[in-house]
Amino acid sequence: MRKPFMAGNWKMNTDSHSSVALARAVVAGSTDVAGDRVDVAVIAPFVYLRAVAQAVSSSAVAVGAQDVYFEQKGAFTGEISPAMLKDVGCTYVLCGHSERRHVIGESDDLVGKKVTAAIHGGLLPILCVGELLEERDAGKTENVVERHLRTGLAGLDGEKMSAVTVAYEPVWAIGTGRTATPQQAQEVHQFIRGLLAKIYGKDLADEIRILYGGSVKPDNAKELMAQADVDGLLVGGASLKADDFVKIIRAGV
Ligand code: 13P
Repeated sequence: MRKPFMAGNWKMNTDSHSSVALARAVVAGSTDVAGDRVDVAVIAPFVYLRAVAQAVSSSAVAVGAQDVYFEQKGAFTGEISPAMLKDVGCTYVLCGHSERRHVIGESDDLVGKKVTAAIHGGLLPILCVGELLEERDAGKTENVVERHLRTGLAGLDGEKMSAVTVAYEPVWAIGTGRTATPQQAQEVHQFIRGLLAKIYGKDLADEIRILYGGSVKPDNAKELMAQADVDGLLVGGASLKADDFVKIIRAGV
């Protein structure tokens, strides 16, 4: 059975004090369930990762980074390697978040290289996929999601694939207050699992966790989690308030 997984993506928010305070509050609010009944991760800005990792070190709450570069070291000014993320205590890393794809301009191929490099570096990638509003309106949701998946997972065999979490984040639902309905989320999650079954076989596809992200709040978390193929939530804005994120974590139990 797939254990629920709740991840809070802090994006470019918090500071050295509030990042640690938020991490501590998430630990305090989730100790009775984190690890055993639900996996929990806080995905902090690079510069606070080490302090956040220290703040959660005696708990089951894991730490993730928001991005990674695919090279191991060298002349790549401003980039961060998988080994650096491991070194400061990361377990997870987001690859291909829609803000990286659409604000920063990351290509599908670059995202795929990052996923592979993350796994080689001993990290667990969370591959983000999802369509723009105009793509949904044009009936292209499945095409876009399939392209993101096939390019994001390019070259991964089944063993490496088992390290991956997929996150479906429809871009039109991110930070807009406009959540996908549970049915819309389920439709795409089911499509993703079906595609993973085609590529990797049903047994592995049944093990892979598929998270939903996009305006998740305490009051919609439960009905999203009630969908058969929604295995967890990737939470932006609401993960910046410990009380809200803890409520969301508990919606997965
Ligand atoms: P919001 O929850 O703020 O819509 O952000 C979703 C997201 O992008 C998580 O990665």
